[in-house]
Amino acid sequence: MANKKVDVLVIGAGAAGLMCGAVAAARGRQVEVIDHAKKVGRKILMSGGGRCNFTNMYAGPENFLSNNPHFCKSALSRYTQWDFIALVDKYQIPYHEKTLGQLFCDDSAKDIVNLLVSECEQAGATITLRTEVISIEQTEQDGARYLVKTDNHDYECESLVIATGGLSMPKIGASPFGYKVAQQFGLEVLPTRAALVPLTLHDKDKEQLAALSGIAVDITAEANDTSFKEAMLFTHRGISGPAILQISSYWQPGDDLTINLSPEQDVLALLTQVREKHPEQELKTCLAKRFPKRFVETFLAYQQIPNAPLKVLNEKQLSTIAEQLHQWQLKPNGTEGYRTAEVTIGGVNTDQLSSKTMEAKQAKGLYFIGEVVDVTGWLGGFNFQWAWSSGWAAGQVV
Ligand code: FDA
Repeated sequence: MANKKVDVLVIGAGAAGLMCGAVAAARGRQVEVIDHAKKVGRKILMSGGGRCNFTNMYAGPENFLSNNPHFCKSALSRYTQWDFIALVDKYQIPYHEKTLGQLFCDDSAKDIVNLLVSECEQAGATITLRTEVISIEQTEQDGARYLVKTDNHDYECESLVIATGGLSMPKIGASPFGYKVAQQFGLEVLPTRAALVPLTLHDKDKEQLAALSGIAVDITAEANDTSFKEAMLFTHRGISGPAILQISSYWQPGDDLTINLSPEQDVLALLTQVREKHPEQELKTCLAKRFPKRFVETFLAYQQIPNAPLKVLNEKQLSTIAEQLHQWQLKPNGTEGYRTAEVTIGGVNTDQLSSKTMEAKQAKGLYFIGEVVDVTGWLGGFNFQWAWSSGWAAGQVV
């Protein structure tokens, strides 16, 4: 069979690949987007609990982690959250702000996948699924032509875009493919690890805190000079909830987490005031005004704080109790890993890519976009915004 010639071959029909394909095709380029999965945009479909948190109103470079924090600035400023919101509006997709600028579809994440597929179709980009790439060769170095052999067609293309995402959720098609392509062409891949992921606890902590499973508390979680104030959820394996998912991106194995279980209310002031007015009141009863009862009982036992009437507790004892609640030092055992992580930290080193076009500096015509690149957003729609912005940036030039 003769090779299929296209201007642009995009590998990966996820968020970044579909955006890039649609934008390039709209410029008149002949584009094919291929994917090994049976369906396009599977991560989009399961994102945001099925409602896709497609961007964040306050997205800015400060919401991203990367070895080079400046790299994401150009793409994010040229295709912003407001550009994507305008596209969502064009398709009359109903959405709402859930919290902290996070925009979710009112109905279904399918609306976002349909939008991207429709943009591809209208612009004339072809999407071909169930296609495994067998090999990639650079056939004509200066003319930037690539020969991509697949189990479907063999493609010749002028521009090759790698949009195969990160390692999270291997069950739905995530693969290290993009990193391997980068290495094949001599690009460095920075170490990867699971992020936006629940943290697991050592057996002793897990056993002692097991009774808390299902309880949510508003906290501040801090690690490595970064902190997030949101909810934490105790689970039967460890800790989760937005505050923990956020801090998991900054936490490294062996680090302590500092958790403030009462960021809004000074526990020492509360205990002192109540002791003055109701000296007979027990510590447990007093704390149960501020925290769920089950939490108070389990946490006091865990910290080996005996229950007693407040009047028998002196200043020092009250301060110690308050400190244990405001500065709980907890050493997680690890993370739940790629099985449940939302994203992968690390990836293709941005030093080797153009921040304007996403093209590899040492392999003309080869582009890396989306999560495969060492740019990782916080929880809250930032990762999709990076996919849209980097996909759009490459789409302008491929
Ligand atoms: P993406 O993963 O979207 O697409 C990669 C594509 O490449 C896939 O279609 C895959 O099948 C294909 N592929 C992989 N290997 C291949 C190979 N060898 N050959 C051919 N094709 C291959 N972010 C956010 O901003 N808001 C949110 O609400 C959520 N929610 C969320 C929930 C869950 C459960 C997860 C796992 C993740 C999120 N995220 C998120 C993160 C977000 O989904 C993610 O960052 C983007 O989808 C990344 O877009 P990409 O296009 O880079 O990869």
